[in-house]
Amino acid sequence: MPVAETKKSPISSNRWILNYLLREKHVFIPSLIALFVTAGLALAFPYFLKELVGSPVDALQKAVPPAEILARTNDIILKLIAALFLQATIGYFRVQGFIRSGESALNHLRKDLFKHVLGLPVPYFQDQRAGSLSNRVTADLALVRETLISTVPQAVRQTVILIGGLIFIFISSWKLSLIMLGCIPIVVLLMAFFGRKVRNHSKAAQQSLADASTVIEESVQNIADVKAFTNEGFERARYESSLAAFLAIALRGAKARGAFLSFIIFVLFGTIAFVVWYGAQMYSTGGISWENFFSFILFSIFVGASLGSFPEIISQLQQTAGATERLREILDMSTERESGRSDLTLSGAIAFEDISFHYASRQEIAVLENLTISLPSGQRTAIVGPSGAGKSTLFSLILGFNEPNSGKLLLDGTDAREISLACLRSQIAIVPQEVMLFGGTISENIAYGKEGATQAEIESAAALANAHDFIAELPEGYATLVGPRGTKLSGGQRQRIAIARAVLADPKILLLDEATSALDSESERLVNEALERLMQGRTSLVIAHRLSTVRHADQILVLSKGKIVEQGTHEVLLSANGTYRFLAETQLS
Ligand SMILES: Nc1ncnc2c1ncn2[C@@H]1O[C@H](COP(=O)(O)OP(=O)(O)OP(=O)(O)O)[C@@H](O)[C@H]1O
Ligand SMILES: [Mg+2]
Repeated sequence: MPVAETKKSPISSNRWILNYLLREKHVFIPSLIALFVTAGLALAFPYFLKELVGSPVDALQKAVPPAEILARTNDIILKLIAALFLQATIGYFRVQGFIRSGESALNHLRKDLFKHVLGLPVPYFQDQRAGSLSNRVTADLALVRETLISTVPQAVRQTVILIGGLIFIFISSWKLSLIMLGCIPIVVLLMAFFGRKVRNHSKAAQQSLADASTVIEESVQNIADVKAFTNEGFERARYESSLAAFLAIALRGAKARGAFLSFIIFVLFGTIAFVVWYGAQMYSTGGISWENFFSFILFSIFVGASLGSFPEIISQLQQTAGATERLREILDMSTERESGRSDLTLSGAIAFEDISFHYASRQEIAVLENLTISLPSGQRTAIVGPSGAGKSTLFSLILGFNEPNSGKLLLDGTDAREISLACLRSQIAIVPQEVMLFGGTISENIAYGKEGATQAEIESAAALANAHDFIAELPEGYATLVGPRGTKLSGGQRQRIAIARAVLADPKILLLDEATSALDSESERLVNEALERLMQGRTSLVIAHRLSTVRHADQILVLSKGKIVEQGTHEVLLSANGTYRFLAETQLS
């Protein structure tokens, strides 16, 4: 897949996310300012606390009368309460502001991602394991969300506290501060070392948990097969083994995390204790005043705590950089072409001119070889051929899901590459072999063929598709919910809904992949009758599995190993005694 090769730096990834945040500038910027203010106000707490404890001691030493000391402390506590109140009030709004701008930024990102994913070429999805794309995107978005809503505010807040706290401890005693700063580089280096270890493990754990979720998704999606083959045990074992793998990785990470924590407890707070011990010595020899010593201790605790929170913040930011990088990779993948004429109304003549094709994922196998066929407008062409001959691949070329590697696909004599995909596809309808419906109502599923179809149009399409009677008999009629992927309807009913959808789409070209599964004779009659009506006046290409279909075809193409081996009408081909005769006798029913 054409993924942009460039590795993005964490900084550029975080800036990219910032651009999303700035889409809600009017909320984000005031919240950011409020955040700076509240973080600054957070420093008021240790400041006034120091005043509260420090000044009476100081005053007593200077023999200030007790009444005056009392008045002074009352004054300080009032200021402290005012600062707390202000901080609380602004904090209330800034939390909301951050959540609002963060969630809106995420919604923009989610919309962009979904739009982009919908635009990706079909082969991309075939190369994906079911569920892995959506699991990955979900996990990555969760990380980004966590960062926008809690890590970024936390980072800003801790930075302000760290810098402000450092200023205060310098004011208290530059000598003590220098001693403390002397220890910091060692602490920071060690923190970075452990932090990286923890991060690597948590990244691996995240990936391994996503793999485990894929197992659930695959089993749930194919639950009928899982149960029919009584493979619950197998799926459970598969899940358990991926969970065990996850646990092993998580436990390895736990060691690093534990070491990190003991390190923080021991080294970081040990350093603070050492510095305080040194300060106590200074105090006892008169090198520092009591008030400044106390202020130094208080602010050191704040600085230490804020320093201690940085590894987590940095690790979270780096994980998010990884996540945004993956999201950007998706957004950088090229989507289907949008070029080409969009004003064409086709009459439906299709021609393959010397087309060869192989799937990109299997370069060495030619699926179609030098294919030249002509499907005249309004005529019915049946394709027969053994499994794997390339019949469905023909459909995917006509729909523009894949492009021929050589040769030309002509529609009304125009090269398909010159017609926009939207224009092309809007004139084609497909009735697939296995009809999968969306989980809504019958009405909604039929209306999928034409945006904004009225109920009357839906019902008349259903009538033409021989679906109206069975729908009308359902207690809730057209409002009946079809269940996930249409599982509450029978195969024949689903097919007739797909036919109604095609009737409503009213395409020039009809691609029909006949169901291989036999329907009972009554539903088969209803389906066939509906198809007959649907094919009237359209160019139809039918992958045929039934004798009745090929009999009525204007021409039959026999495809084998990517080549047309025989071509003609049923009677002619039957008398030719070749591949067709063999297929007709063994495979068509
Ligand atoms: N997405 C894909 N990537 C790689 N190879 C593919 C892909 N889809 C199909 N093929 C291969 O291309 C060949 C033709 O497949 P195709 O689905 O067109 O066969 P078919 O004639 O429709 O068979 P059937 O009657 O079983 O549906 C097969 O060998 C198949 O394995
Ligand atoms: Mg097929």
